[in-house]
Amino acid sequence: MNSQRILLTGAAGRLGGILRQAFAGRFQLLRLSDVAPMGAAGEGEEIVTCDLADATTVQVLCEGIDAIVHLGGIPYETGWPELLQSNIAGTINLYEGARHAGVDRVIFASSNHASGMYPNDTAISGESPPRPDSRYGLTKAFGEDVAALYAYKHGIRSLCLRIGSCLPKPDNKRALSTWLSHGDFVRLVEVGLTADYVHEIVYGVSGNTRSWWDNSAAYRLGYEPRDDAEIYAAEVEAIELGTELARQYQGGNFVPEEFSGRKEWLG
Ligand SMILES: NC(=O)c1ccc[n+]([C@@H]2O[C@H](COP(=O)([O-])OP(=O)(O)OC[C@H]3O[C@@H](n4cnc5c(N)ncnc54)[C@H](O)[C@@H]3O)[C@@H](O)[C@H]2O)c1
Repeated sequence: MNSQRILLTGAAGRLGGILRQAFAGRFQLLRLSDVAPMGAAGEGEEIVTCDLADATTVQVLCEGIDAIVHLGGIPYETGWPELLQSNIAGTINLYEGARHAGVDRVIFASSNHASGMYPNDTAISGESPPRPDSRYGLTKAFGEDVAALYAYKHGIRSLCLRIGSCLPKPDNKRALSTWLSHGDFVRLVEVGLTADYVHEIVYGVSGNTRSWWDNSAAYRLGYEPRDDAEIYAAEVEAIELGTELARQYQGGNFVPEEFSGRKEWLG
């Protein structure tokens, strides 16, 4: 059994459930945290209900932990009041708690929506500057900078995963580029728990033939995706997003929502 003590935030969510199942019984401690119910603790698990917006409780949450997988937060576009609490204050509190507790590393669930205003025909990498497609995407770009502050200034290794579409299988043409299989998601987080890095931003994407993202930084760290969305192409290729903006830019449906910009500026 691995001697690491892991904290998983957002443990009641979709991705949290995948990791909880994959990590069961593998670590000295798996501390699961969320505001939503998480069921009963299994062997090696600890359940801690905690609102990430509450700095004091988050500090206690991080105590005695070696590595954090930070999935907790709002994963969709909404108003600033909610995003400020869960995604902005939540991520600051989490890193601040990690610093107080002497945590070695944090794997931060960023999002492809941190860079969703790039056109589909532009190949970008984790080193490309953010181009958020929404308030939500901006909270993820901010989280990547929080990660840099705590890596370079406070010595907490930080791996930011700009997750594409983590689904059992691709559900439309866009996902042929953005799909992250459940198995590859687990493999990428495992890399984050063991690899040697300071601050990296990589894409959470399978080895898709049609990927828009240069993920060589993830490969350098040891990520070896086993899945490729292409095997579903015949099934989903005809399922296109509804608007031209959504079809042409990486953020998909997030791009046309509230769009009031100039298309010619987007490239
Ligand atoms: N699922 C994807 O394909 C995908 C893509 C890009 C990024 N992400 C990111 O990955 C993470 C997990 O995504 P998911 O699909 O499992 O989302 P989810 O909504 O299923 O899970 C997120 C969890 O965070 C919890 N949460 C929200 N606000 C909180 C708060 N203030 N305090 C404590 N817990 C709080 C929710 O209760 C929920 O259980 C999110 O940060 C999301 O932005 C996911």
